[in-house]
Amino acid sequence: MSATDFDIPTLRARRTNKWHKFAPDVLPAWVADMDFGVAPAIAAAMRRLTDNQEYGYAARDGVLAGAFSRRMASRFGWQTDPAHAIGLGDLVQATFSSVMAFSEPGDGILLQLPSYPPFMGAIADTGRRLIPNAMRDDGQRWVLELPATVDPRLRMLIFCHPQNPTGRCYSRAELEQVAAFAIRHDLVVVSDEIHADIIYPGGGHIPLASLSSEIAARTITITSATKSFNIPALRCAVMHFGAPALLQRFLAKMPTRLLGSPSVTGVDATVAAWDDGQAWFEEIMAQLLANRDWLARTIAAELPGVSFRVPEATYLAWLDCRGLELPCSAGQFFLDKARVGLNFGETFGPDYAGFARLNFASPPKVLAEVVGRMVDAVRTR
Ligand SMILES: Cc1ncc(COP(=O)(O)O)c(C=O)c1O
Repeated sequence: MSATDFDIPTLRARRTNKWHKFAPDVLPAWVADMDFGVAPAIAAAMRRLTDNQEYGYAARDGVLAGAFSRRMASRFGWQTDPAHAIGLGDLVQATFSSVMAFSEPGDGILLQLPSYPPFMGAIADTGRRLIPNAMRDDGQRWVLELPATVDPRLRMLIFCHPQNPTGRCYSRAELEQVAAFAIRHDLVVVSDEIHADIIYPGGGHIPLASLSSEIAARTITITSATKSFNIPALRCAVMHFGAPALLQRFLAKMPTRLLGSPSVTGVDATVAAWDDGQAWFEEIMAQLLANRDWLARTIAAELPGVSFRVPEATYLAWLDCRGLELPCSAGQFFLDKARVGLNFGETFGPDYAGFARLNFASPPKVLAEVVGRMVDAVRTR
């Protein structure tokens, strides 16, 4: 079976949240994992663990940080010091812990909206204040518009690059503006670059911290192999601090033992992905590109009232359904009437009930069924 050829019963047999959050008659196209397989190198790494019954406390010192540094250099030409990287379970934990280490309750944190929902959780659940920064649809793509004035207690920026859910892959000029803004306002930046591998032709990912030592000194880059290599259940992420002083400030507030450590399955799978998974990933990217372009054509032709800015990155489509003039949120409409489970737009910010996020990382037949149901629901409403 090829890496992208799975049928619905096989996918539903996976005990994943994606396939079991909704009722059994709902086709899911929401949470960001892929209805594909994994790279042979990852499968081999998992087999080695089970064959050896290798479940004792792990000896992997420096292994994940080394793989991270090799990957950043080979993929993005970014030189990083493995001594400045920490492994942990997941990126959401990295965001929460950074917020707690680098700000105080009541401080302001800037975040572009629409936003991946846990970023808002990292601000609200820790008693910080969300300073919303709405992106603007300029008719071609979603653009950044940084505020001209800032809250006196603004301390941090949570930056998602490439951006979830709009699929923007920011240009060097845009990143330079972000860096200048962070430096001018003395902000610590959490730069979530988890989607950095998944960039379509015409674009290229530039790590924010690679721009200059000045921005690096205030940037925590967080990433993992989980999105591009389809292993989110294995719980493994990396936080990289762009200067030793930033790492020291973090450690002074956040004992690393409190963060725990990534699982041995996560570390081995991540190292296998980053060191030996690229050929598999290229195959997946070809499928994602074909899916993205098919989706753009089909929505334009078959779903009047729905539009989206074709993503430059990610396998997520941020559908603007406001033209349908629905009596309820777009996510609710497609759930009730199409039996398709999208991410509801209102979870990405209060102004986005007219939007829904569709994950198109599925075998073409599954994606066609998802979109076909949506088309029928709109036609027969
Ligand atoms: C931007 C972004 N950050 C973080 C995550 C989640 O990462 P983790 O499972 O490692 O917390 C996601 C998952 O969709 C994401 O899109």
